[in-house]
Amino acid sequence: MDRLSALHTTFNPSALEPLATLPEWALFKTAGQAAPLQVSQLRLIQAAGLTLDQSAQHASTALDQAAEALLHARQFPVWRERLLAGQMVNPTEDRAAWHSQLRSNHPVADVACERERLLRFVERANRDYRWHNIVHIGIGGSDWGVRLAVSAFGYANMRRTVRFVANIDGHAVQGGLAGLDPRNTLIVVASKSFSTAETLQNGQRAIEWLRASGIANPFEQVVAITARPDKAREWGVSDQHIFRLWDWVGGRFSMWSAVSLTTALAVGPDVVTGMLAGAAAMDDHFAQAPIHQNAPVQMALSGLVNRSVLGYGSLNLAPYDFRLANLVPYVQQLDMESLGKSVTHSGQPAGVHTGPAVWGMPGTDAQHTFFQWLHQGTDGAPVDFIACQHADHGWPDHHRRLLANCLAQREALLRGKSLDSALTESRADELGEDDTRWLAKHKVHAGGRPSNLIVLPRLTPETLGALLALYEHKIFVQGVLWGINPFDQWGVEYGKVLAKGIQGALAGTGVHGDHDASTSHWVHRWASHTQ
Ligand code: F6P
Repeated sequence: MDRLSALHTTFNPSALEPLATLPEWALFKTAGQAAPLQVSQLRLIQAAGLTLDQSAQHASTALDQAAEALLHARQFPVWRERLLAGQMVNPTEDRAAWHSQLRSNHPVADVACERERLLRFVERANRDYRWHNIVHIGIGGSDWGVRLAVSAFGYANMRRTVRFVANIDGHAVQGGLAGLDPRNTLIVVASKSFSTAETLQNGQRAIEWLRASGIANPFEQVVAITARPDKAREWGVSDQHIFRLWDWVGGRFSMWSAVSLTTALAVGPDVVTGMLAGAAAMDDHFAQAPIHQNAPVQMALSGLVNRSVLGYGSLNLAPYDFRLANLVPYVQQLDMESLGKSVTHSGQPAGVHTGPAVWGMPGTDAQHTFFQWLHQGTDGAPVDFIACQHADHGWPDHHRRLLANCLAQREALLRGKSLDSALTESRADELGEDDTRWLAKHKVHAGGRPSNLIVLPRLTPETLGALLALYEHKIFVQGVLWGINPFDQWGVEYGKVLAKGIQGALAGTGVHGDHDASTSHWVHRWASHTQ
């Protein structure tokens, strides 16, 4: 049976067709347009140790009912069951997306074996105090999750020096290797496909660097984590130094695999096992919590209202925790690579706006960078505020101020400032009446900006793992609602193919190809310049 027929056998047309064609969508849209921001009503959800406060999202009983009907029409329970059972949920690549298996408390034998191998590798390295430096080479999903975990838990203290090399820009690998002692350096090459140009080329540079320093067998200092052990072997990596991941793990979910070897070496294996446990707890919550208390589902629904009903084009992330700076690019990749799609499962135009642009920066830096735009710009954006109730430093006043800023920004975005209160405020300046009125108009805040507040009791591996799984499942549910495939990335693949052709032309080893006028101009110019 071909893939499309198989999809139609499992799902009703209502789960695969454009959202706009469903009567349930019409009801949801009407309810979303009418639902107020209920400033006075508290809406809290507890999930795997986290608290999600949705009080600053549009809500109503009618919207809740319409949401349940829409989830039913989209066959959400069937999709969720398939996801968590490791069945095919990525039809264009004919694959499962079973990242939940990687963090399962009762993993299948292969997964348990790789986890065990990773722990033993780290144990040995610690016992012999081997590898003072780690150079982690990988890009996208093979990079951001590890960067996030290492910066979150190594901000004050790292067991080893860690450098991340992702970009094809030679300066990245030059800087990544600079100043390290090659004899004490482990090169970790993380690539699910083992065919990503950036990773392979940077990996080669690192191996040359080892060789150039007189190391006879550089592969004793190279570890590969990949779903293509055959390719790593061809490169020269020994079987003991190859850790497996599987075809059913999407690239952007690979941090739950042995790709986290670098995390374990840098900040300890407990961070890795703790994150797995936290994510597994969120998987259980996602599988079991009723819809109205299900944090990923409710986040997905309010995101749908904000994007497809109210028309917000972006989602701002504001972690009020400096250690979570890398949460922004991590979720950016997860969300935008997953939901940057405009065709439904059935192959038709999505018909509504799908995934928003995701951007952000930790508070309070963000307040002095772009919050003005959020407060008084013409577009605005919903914000996910993320905060830890307790800090891990010894200065309670810093933490109180941080949390005060978080709550204040959120309240200002929600409640705004009316002309009347701006007038009262401006009168205190004792200007003339015309100036007072003129100035007050500049101080008005529209307010009414929706936001989530996600509270972690404290930043621990468990709470960070739960937070990441919360976002993963939110994105999955939005894929189900929009009827798009959140697990492929054909746009990225197209860019890779074009770059390969142009690179051949620049190197003089390929044909110039058929390009637009500007691309042709620069291909000719740079080709003659570099030859
Ligand atoms: O950007 C596309 C992508 O396939 C991501 O999904 C992935 O994380 C990244 O490239 C790296 O891929 P790989 O792990 O196969 O090198």
